[in-house]
Amino acid sequence: YLWQQRRDKRYPQGAPLTIEIGSLPEGKLLAVDWAGKSVWVLRRSPQELVTLASNEAQLLDPQSEKSLQPPACRNSNRSIRPDVFVAIGVCTHQGCIPVLQSGQGFACPCHASRYDLAGRVFKGGPAPANLVIPAYRFADENRLVVGES
Ligand code: FES
Repeated sequence: YLWQQRRDKRYPQGAPLTIEIGSLPEGKLLAVDWAGKSVWVLRRSPQELVTLASNEAQLLDPQSEKSLQPPACRNSNRSIRPDVFVAIGVCTHQGCIPVLQSGQGFACPCHASRYDLAGRVFKGGPAPANLVIPAYRFADENRLVVGES
């Protein structure tokens, strides 16, 4: 139902943009401007995916029921492909830009909300929802297109 709220102002809309990810190494965050926001692409390692699975009890919305993402990303990795995480790099509290903490997640510098490497928010901070995930698809193994599903 949330996905149908496509006019939600938190949900950025923009012309499709192709992002090359072939040379993106594990653990490196790529940030690309799109629709007036910063779109993040992070390649996660197998170990980081194992860590994700152990977070659930500490998360506010582990199944992403109250968070915005395309249907194909409503899974525990919040992604189409497990190794590639795509999200809007904006804290769901008041819009600051969280910072990658390598191997662990993202921390917001403004009021200390924390997210895991699937953009799922931890309990205990003021952010009310997981990071927003935009529509995207893979054109091929090394290119994704943001703004299209
Ligand atoms: Fe991120 Fe407040 S804006 S915690």
